[in-house]
Amino acid sequence: MEQSFYKESIVLLEGAENEIKSRLATLRSYLKSQNVRDPIEHFTSRIKDEESMKEKLQRKGLEVTLEAALTQVYDAVGVRVICSYINDIYTVRDILKKQDDMEIISEKDYIKNPKPNGYRSYHMIVKIPVRVGENKLMCYAEIQLRTIAMDCWASLEHLMKYKKNIKNQELIVSELKRCADEIASTDITMQTIHDLIQQ
Ligand code: GTP
Ligand code: MG
Repeated sequence: MEQSFYKESIVLLEGAENEIKSRLATLRSYLKSQNVRDPIEHFTSRIKDEESMKEKLQRKGLEVTLEAALTQVYDAVGVRVICSYINDIYTVRDILKKQDDMEIISEKDYIKNPKPNGYRSYHMIVKIPVRVGENKLMCYAEIQLRTIAMDCWASLEHLMKYKKNIKNQELIVSELKRCADEIASTDITMQTIHDLIQQ
């Protein structure tokens, strides 16, 4: 299989990944220095591997080229920010939006508008400058913001959704949805408890 269409972009993609991680890490240490509670519980990141990039390009009816991978798909670089409480998500979102050298391409609030299966998270597609030698290149990245509880649900649902051809499909979908809604309700309660303690 011809799979090297994407390899040469790794310097750029890793640059973008590191740039976002560095901004998040600096934000955390800045807040700490100001004695402000850290809204970030932890964050993870990944670069989409060649195999899944190829699969996504084909699924979207795009050409399997480096050009398409870098300009038509926006999640070659993905950063997931796990926050403690729901409001922390919007705090981090607002701070990122104020960083004027990072362009916000689109935002999807799957917390206010959950997906039909119950999925909740806040998604941002950004375009971030990366210094590569003497050049400044712009690179797309997807930033997902979610609570610990939302992350728990999404991780398990992700594991389970690849099990196809199983009996009771409808029951499973509705039970997973019920779990998502219960988790969402717990998140709201946790936020309320936190706010009470802060008062
Ligand atoms: P993609 O083509 O898959 O990127 O979808 P999209 O462009 O419509 O973006 P969307 O915002 O729906 O989802 C992007 C990413 O969010 C996915 O790659 C997953 O990481 C995550 N995601 C979205 N929906 C779900 C879901 O139902 N379950 C889980 N576990 N993750 C999801
Ligand atoms: Mg995606």
